[in-house]
Amino acid sequence: MKKKVIRLLLITRMKKRDDYEMNKVEENKKAWGLLSQEHYKHFKKRFQEQKYSLNPIVLKELGNICGKKVLHLQCNTGADSIALAKMGANVIGVDLVPDNIYFAKKLAKDLEIENVDFIASDIMELMENHEGIYDIVFTSDGAIGWLPDLKKWGRTIKHFLKDDGFFYVHDSHPFYLTFDEDKLTRGVTEIKYPYFKEEADEDDKIGGYASEAKEAKSYFWMYTMSNLVNSLAQAGLFIDFLNEYDRAVPGMGGTTADEEGLLYYPALEGAMPITFSLKATPR
Ligand SMILES: C[S@@+](CC[C@H](N)C(=O)[O-])C[C@H]1O[C@@H](n2cnc3c(N)ncnc32)[C@H](O)[C@@H]1O
Repeated sequence: MKKKVIRLLLITRMKKRDDYEMNKVEENKKAWGLLSQEHYKHFKKRFQEQKYSLNPIVLKELGNICGKKVLHLQCNTGADSIALAKMGANVIGVDLVPDNIYFAKKLAKDLEIENVDFIASDIMELMENHEGIYDIVFTSDGAIGWLPDLKKWGRTIKHFLKDDGFFYVHDSHPFYLTFDEDKLTRGVTEIKYPYFKEEADEDDKIGGYASEAKEAKSYFWMYTMSNLVNSLAQAGLFIDFLNEYDRAVPGMGGTTADEEGLLYYPALEGAMPITFSLKATPR
């Protein structure tokens, strides 16, 4: 009897915590929705000017994906999904925001790319909302910190992968995310966001990398390198490689462009990681 009561209490507490995190995801959904149309316009122009392509680090590490079925998590208005489709893959992009999906479909239609489609879903609920099995699950540049539960993220990735498929991620290095972003531009490293913080950080602005920044409440969760690797390992994935870089695509950190168009901080070049990549395969 006592055990039953304790279990019930625990379930109620976990449910309350889940509801609390879900409210933050709802706020993020509203916030990202404010940017959908501007992002669509920005990326359409970049494609039309032949100026849009995948991050050069990703291009090198991903290899030939022609003919592969790709699930692209957190696709925004579809620019990278379309870039992957242009490499010959059959792509499904997923994003939380219905307006992002509307504009992603419109962008693909405008650019006459047919081997790509899009669905609206919270990644945290994708296993319930989508059926399919993929050669590659892909996510990149500004994705992970918007998710409240990395263990579920790991299980979701494994769930959608073929036995001989692989997962690929390129994103902000969690160590880099600890620093005060304004001071970094002056070469000053001062920790503003604690590495091990579990509560989401609340911001009153969203966007600014492919649109004007807008005023809106948004929530971002810090992640540690061990959270990341362990969530994938516990889900049944084997890590093939983990690479670290002192540069990033515009909007993800850095002030000065290198010959490939990636940005770095001159005073911190070679001194600290800004991004990382990881490839993992089902065990
Ligand atoms: C910085 S953008 C990622 C852009 C990415 N580099 C791309 O391929 O275009 C972050 C995206 O994550 C989406 N997002 C945030 N929380 C999410 C969630 N819980 N489930 C699905 N998508 C989410 C946002 O709507 C936004 O489009």
